[in-house]
Amino acid sequence: MLESINILLLDDDLHILDSVRMNLSSLGEYRVFAYSDARDAIANIEGKDYAAVITDVDMPGMNGLQLLQWMKDYDATVPVILITGSQETDILMEAIRYGAYDFLKKPFSLSDLAIILKRAVEKHGLLRQNVLHHNHLESMVEARTRELNQTTKKLEMSYLNTIRAMINAMEINDEYTHGHSERVAAISLLIGSALELSKEEMDLLRIGALLHDLGKIGITTQILHKDQSLTDTEYDDIKLHPIKGLKIVEPIGLSPRVKNIILQHHERYDGSGYPFGIDNSQIDFLAAIVSVADSFDAMISNRPYRLGVNTGKAKCEICQQRAKQFHPEVVDAFEKIQKQIFKTLESPAIVKELLTEV
Ligand SMILES: [Fe+2]
Repeated sequence: MLESINILLLDDDLHILDSVRMNLSSLGEYRVFAYSDARDAIANIEGKDYAAVITDVDMPGMNGLQLLQWMKDYDATVPVILITGSQETDILMEAIRYGAYDFLKKPFSLSDLAIILKRAVEKHGLLRQNVLHHNHLESMVEARTRELNQTTKKLEMSYLNTIRAMINAMEINDEYTHGHSERVAAISLLIGSALELSKEEMDLLRIGALLHDLGKIGITTQILHKDQSLTDTEYDDIKLHPIKGLKIVEPIGLSPRVKNIILQHHERYDGSGYPFGIDNSQIDFLAAIVSVADSFDAMISNRPYRLGVNTGKAKCEICQQRAKQFHPEVVDAFEKIQKQIFKTLESPAIVKELLTEV
């Protein structure tokens, strides 16, 4: 069964309304919905899906021009044919401005109306197809964007899992540093959050802090596990771990700022650190954050050659090195949220939760 072409017809002259309705219906193509009041037509428009509107201009209540404007807002694809008994150019100009499809002057012949209506219905079909095509394209773009986002998410997860595997490889030989990277990352993120870093910087900070000591894979376990003071040569070897770390991650195309964290986390604000002895002017701020987090966690952790100190004492050490070893802004942020840091470190579960937040 063919779908009917619905036409909205409006005229307050009931005689004209009835006559036009019957004549158009007799053409067999159209289902004509006739109203003498535009407000009634609007109240019942839901689900009609009109292919064209034929309306008298001069009507009480809501006139044809007002209906034309309303239709353009409701569905701009529906052509509106105006019937007018007036020759006033003002009305015609206004109708053109509002986007009327065509005009018919009373009295008009049914054949003229039928020709105009046929063209209007064809135009509506084309406009509707255009809209459907546009909507289809939009939904295709949305679907592809969703797929792309899911793939990106999976890649990010796989990337983070690779990083975790690298950290496990590093920590498996060194029980004393077990969990160190995750704790440093958690402390760094808490400080970063207190400093109101952007989401992008927080993501880089998370990855850089997790990877900061990766270069220790390249340090022999004899040195890492030594329970006596290191010789100068051994210490020189340890001091190469930032450079070794950078070499390890070179092939995976990390952000330069993540590389800065790996390379600079033992550099000091006053230039007395290693491996290059650069000062604040050249140290990446993210590396300065990891430096504080790393030193704090190292102080409170047990080492083969010494026991860790309590959090209060470690905090004092950090504060004493303000604007010497450490960036003053980072120390201030650390001090501000010290209680939150201490509480986080009490629970490995909270540390993990912090690191999985996206
Ligand atoms: Fe380190």
